[in-house]
Amino acid sequence: MNYQWYPGHMTRAKRMMQEDARLVDLIIELVDGRAPMSSRNPDIDEIGRGKLRMILLNKTDLADAEANVQWSEYFREKGYFTQEINAKSGAGMKKILPLVQEACREKIERNRRRGIINRPVRAMVAGIPNVGKSTFINSFAGKSCTRTGNKPGVTKGKQWIRLNKNLELLDTPGILWPRFENQKVGERLAMIGSINDEILQTQELAAAVIMFLQKEYPALLRERYQQNLSTDAYRALEEICIIRHCFKKGEEPDLLRASGMVLDDFRSGRIGRITLERPKEWQ
Ligand code: G4P
Repeated sequence: MNYQWYPGHMTRAKRMMQEDARLVDLIIELVDGRAPMSSRNPDIDEIGRGKLRMILLNKTDLADAEANVQWSEYFREKGYFTQEINAKSGAGMKKILPLVQEACREKIERNRRRGIINRPVRAMVAGIPNVGKSTFINSFAGKSCTRTGNKPGVTKGKQWIRLNKNLELLDTPGILWPRFENQKVGERLAMIGSINDEILQTQELAAAVIMFLQKEYPALLRERYQQNLSTDAYRALEEICIIRHCFKKGEEPDLLRASGMVLDDFRSGRIGRITLERPKEWQ
């Protein structure tokens, strides 16, 4: 499958993020737990050079629990402070403040030794579109936090959310662009819905989801559609048309509609908790 995407404001977004990154001590990077590596943009390593780094594995409610543990270990081994979260329900969120504290301990100590005592740590949230950055900021910062903006000089034009006396969060996330290093990455981003639906070839994508599930999660697939689907993904789509009564006029199977249903079932977690990639592939 050939995924192409031409975001017009990609360069501007990266430049803005580079500017914002200069203002912070810590970058909190969100990734989609269903495809943690494909949903990262490697540019962040360059942008975040010299900063404290945290990776939050989001949407873990939709991802395979065993894979979540593997990915957390993988990122921790690489030196990132890591936490599994569900920004939508709030699961795992309570652990973040203590983790920020741990990540910043040395910095706070260093400041203290230099006589800088009440300077809060500044953080920003970053990630590709749709990983849950806004949901996370709303849930993490809540409504009760004070927003401080337009401090002269350093923070000109920026809004900071004061979480407590030790931590301030930039209220706008840094948007990174997904990077299609190979077809697999593009395909996985499309499967989880991170790429604009208009440019997708819905049927091919649904067939790819079915093929993946047949290989990695056959029991979940069987349970969802209540039968053993054909091993030929397009035949399987036709079978799903019958199961779900998707017909055009004249009894012709409506493959496009069935494909949309499969993608929707997959993305919403109705097929089950599924992870598209494992760390061993990225060692
Ligand atoms: P972004 O700022 O990074 O672009 O992402 P945003 O917060 O807008 O979240 C994108 C979608 O992902 C939203 O769904 C949001 O509700 C959902 N989401 C975020 N975090 C989680 C999570 O941990 N688990 C699950 N299951 N979903 C999550 P939406 O369909 O666009 O909106 P809505 O229908 O949920 O309001």
